[in-house]
Amino acid sequence: MASKSASSAERLEIVFGAGEIAATVERMAREIARDYANTELHLVAILKGAIFFVTDLARALSALNAPALDLTPKCTLDFMVVSSYGNDVRSSGEVRLLKDASESVEGRDILLVEDIVDNGLTLHYLQGLLRSRAPRSLRTAVLLDKPYRRLADVTLDYVGLTAPDAFVVGYGLDYQERYRTLPFVAKLILPSGKPLGA
Ligand code: IMP
Ligand code: MG
Repeated sequence: MASKSASSAERLEIVFGAGEIAATVERMAREIARDYANTELHLVAILKGAIFFVTDLARALSALNAPALDLTPKCTLDFMVVSSYGNDVRSSGEVRLLKDASESVEGRDILLVEDIVDNGLTLHYLQGLLRSRAPRSLRTAVLLDKPYRRLADVTLDYVGLTAPDAFVVGYGLDYQERYRTLPFVAKLILPSGKPLGA
């Protein structure tokens, strides 16, 4: 009899459900809208991880202003695609830029939108790169913060939720490209019963 593959014995343990994520994104959108009233805000999201976060955030930001037909802050959207070198669960901070932003950030109010910050090296690289391009202002929004193993000093202006000290997947976050499309965030429990990355 063929043995089961290791991946088929992995389990997911939900950490943040879809409702809690939606409420968090709404709350962040209110904070951002308050700070950027009457400002044209340019969102630069980091793919692939931030795909669902930025689409929900951008729509929440625009919806907040729609009832009064006051479309400020006007939101524009751009993407960078990066991949971090490292092992499966820890980045080394060496970031490979797979696709740069398609528009200039110079002189604009930029909100860098990232899925999760762990040791901070990826964000440190991205903040440095964008800052070197002379935006008018640069702030950062992250959905999930793992503050336990920070190596780089990064400023987080808007933070959604504090994630547990384990590798999490879902709502954009992957493990070897799997689990990204789940509507919730979960810990990945290995066949041994231990969470990955804990
Ligand atoms: P850092 O450089 O350690 O801060 O890691 C940041 C990047 O690693 C994020 O943009 C994610 O792509 C990835 N990452 C860090 N922690 C996790 C996790 O728990 N699940 C999935 N991806 C993660
Ligand atoms: Mg990422």
